[in-house]
Amino acid sequence: MKSIQGRKIVLAVTGGVAAYKAAELVRLLVKAGANVHVVLTEGGARFVTAVTFQALSGNPVWSDLWDARMANNMAHIDLSRDADAILIAPATADVIARLVHGLADDLLTTLCLARDCPLIVAPAMNRQMWEHPATRRNVALLHQDGVTVFGPDSGEQACGEVGMGRMLEPEALLAQLETFFGSGRMRGRKVVMTAGPTFEAIDPVRGITNTSSGKMGYALARACVVAGAEVVLVSGPVALPLPDGVRRVEVQSALQMREAVFEALPGADVFIGVAAVADYRPADQAEHKIKKSGESMTLTLVPNPDILAEVAGLPNPPFCVGFAAESRDLDKYAEGKRQGKRLRLVVGNLVQHGLGGDDNQVVLYDDHGRHPLAPASKVELAARIVDHIASLMLPPSQITQNG
Ligand code: PMT
Repeated sequence: MKSIQGRKIVLAVTGGVAAYKAAELVRLLVKAGANVHVVLTEGGARFVTAVTFQALSGNPVWSDLWDARMANNMAHIDLSRDADAILIAPATADVIARLVHGLADDLLTTLCLARDCPLIVAPAMNRQMWEHPATRRNVALLHQDGVTVFGPDSGEQACGEVGMGRMLEPEALLAQLETFFGSGRMRGRKVVMTAGPTFEAIDPVRGITNTSSGKMGYALARACVVAGAEVVLVSGPVALPLPDGVRRVEVQSALQMREAVFEALPGADVFIGVAAVADYRPADQAEHKIKKSGESMTLTLVPNPDILAEVAGLPNPPFCVGFAAESRDLDKYAEGKRQGKRLRLVVGNLVQHGLGGDDNQVVLYDDHGRHPLAPASKVELAARIVDHIASLMLPPSQITQNG
């Protein structure tokens, strides 16, 4: 199960201009498979109407403590009973203050006081309000009461000022929720990984590269964060947004990738090589653009270092995971790479399935044998691969047959 799929989320929208972002958040949550029930305060309804939230969530919207649509007239009790979380986004300074003092004079505050599920708030307010000692005190009390706080962010505000207090963007809130509901199986682990292609320059405008999009590696980086890990992603040139919670180091060539990996490696528990690293690079890089002469030309290539093999060959290596992209004989070559590089796990895929697209078909090879996974999106496969890694990292007595 993906961490959001099948979750019941009560999303409370209070009266701040960031309420317009809550509509997009509902859309993203529903797309991720959540069952969203919106509680809209009087202030929230001044910015976005209930009709919008009802249309996007597919569920009735709740605003009134005395709403007679709930058979027992107790929306403040029933809404939270089978919920996985109440998320208040945006949460105004006022609602935060009322929550920490246990006020219960409307549906939202009564619901929060009567809840038996986690409460998460995503503050949104002007920077002076956020920095006011009263708000600082109230947010500290929220933490003390076990409430989770997502954000806020800093940047340009609706009032035209710049500073801390912006609500996190809907995508970032979704990512934080995924981590919140994640398995936590990699909590406390540091993961260093590579993704994307490398670009080996021939001259200032030309080079040798490949068609890796980085999608598999970026999905895996995000899945590691969702499972609680700290992630450093050394990425070749790709056109993908940085997954929330991931620290990215951007590189071009295999030599730069190697240097960035070894810089990030101290303290790493896991190293995952997803990058399609060029095996060779031009022996020389021309300083100026090579001019057409009409003659044939010869390019001399020299081998690149094998980053994964070097990391796995360290005296105390991290748990090393390799990928193998083959065009045939997957079992033979992938298992050969695992043994040759002394890796704990190899994820094998055929290039025709893995390169470029959103989906993939992989087989996992480890000391216990071969484990084919059902074809799926790279995002779904990443979650399963991380789960497998987490299982293999358990003490041997706790490992089940299929990880
Ligand atoms: O980026 P996408 O479009 O989503 O595609 C994903 C993928 C197909 C690139 C990915 O799933 C994958 O298979 N990556 C490995 C690509 C590959 O060809 O690896 P390899 O067989 O050349 O190398 C085996 C392993 O050694 C890999 O983990 C690789 O990162 C590592 N390696 C290889 C050469 C080198 N010089 N240094 C390395 O670290």
